[in-house]
Amino acid sequence: MWQEDKETLVLGIETSCDETAAAVVQNGRYVRSEVVWSQVKRHAEFGGVVPELASRMHLEAIAKVVDLALSDAGISPSDLSAVAVTHGPGLVGALLVGVGFAKAFAYRQQKRLIAVHHLVGHLAANFVEYPDLEPPFLALIVSGAHSHLVEVSAYDRYRLIGRTRDDAAGEAFDKIARAMGLGYPGGQKLDKLAQAGTPVFDLPQTAFPDSLDFSFSGLKTASLNWLHKLEQRGEVVAKEDIAATVQKAIVDQLVSHTEAALHQSRLKKLVVAGGVAANSGLRDALFDLKARMKIEVMLPRIAWCTDNAVMIASAGYFLGQHGEFASLDLNARPVLAM
Ligand code: KG4
Ligand code: ZN
Repeated sequence: MWQEDKETLVLGIETSCDETAAAVVQNGRYVRSEVVWSQVKRHAEFGGVVPELASRMHLEAIAKVVDLALSDAGISPSDLSAVAVTHGPGLVGALLVGVGFAKAFAYRQQKRLIAVHHLVGHLAANFVEYPDLEPPFLALIVSGAHSHLVEVSAYDRYRLIGRTRDDAAGEAFDKIARAMGLGYPGGQKLDKLAQAGTPVFDLPQTAFPDSLDFSFSGLKTASLNWLHKLEQRGEVVAKEDIAATVQKAIVDQLVSHTEAALHQSRLKKLVVAGGVAANSGLRDALFDLKARMKIEVMLPRIAWCTDNAVMIASAGYFLGQHGEFASLDLNARPVLAM
């Protein structure tokens, strides 16, 4: 546990996918430094993340990224209270680089080690964006591999009340963007196009009775079929309008389920996190929801929606506050429940 009156500095390390990131955060709320070394350009040549390449690039970058985070914060390793690292879920080879480095660092510097769940990390970005934010709240966590609705009743109490039964929202964005020839990273590119387009019709939605679960696979298949038909018939629909149609369908489902979850849980505060939280259509729709339901809506700045280490250091602080430290036999967990 931390000493209440002490300035607690946590070094966060994130390597679960294609960003090598390190950050120093004070008392879980204040950023002292942040470094993100993105591999996006390299993976773009292949149209998506190449796992082995990601591991190798993390291995090359990790020591420099951590050194830079410490020097930017103006501290030496001895000033740290702990090192927090993402141990899952994610690409196993990529996670192993961060976990291995964090363990060696903790051992060498005799610091405590904290294992952070990547999605708990995403949520914690909001504790830094909104220093007064406290549970309870409803969380919508939307990333490349997860679409979760979670009731957060305390810093360490999560209840999953809705999840995707097939593709995640980010995955749907990426796969449709790829079929449109937009390349990687697709979600962001599709978003940019959608901002200049108008939806042309409502794509079909899959719903499960009495459930808050998401499903994006039907909507994805309908989009791909639509693209094929347009090509076969030689019909032209502006790429901007196709993007706007797809974006509206994904956003509609995310927002309608979130609205139902807010009614069900009676929570008045909504916290949104993960890469898809950067989506302009989703941000606009949540702004409307806020006005309509008279609730509070929290969204981190764009840079803290996608992968970063500020969120890992912050989540690590709150775990440390509950005495949840890891031992040096910590392993990477590619699949890990929240
Ligand atoms: O959280 P994140 O950076 O990594 C994971 O933990 O997966 O999320 C990445 C996902 C990708 O699917 C990416 O296409 C999506 O977030 N994304 C977006 C936008 N920015 C990132 N999707 C839609 N619109 C965006 N502006
Ligand atoms: Zn992520």
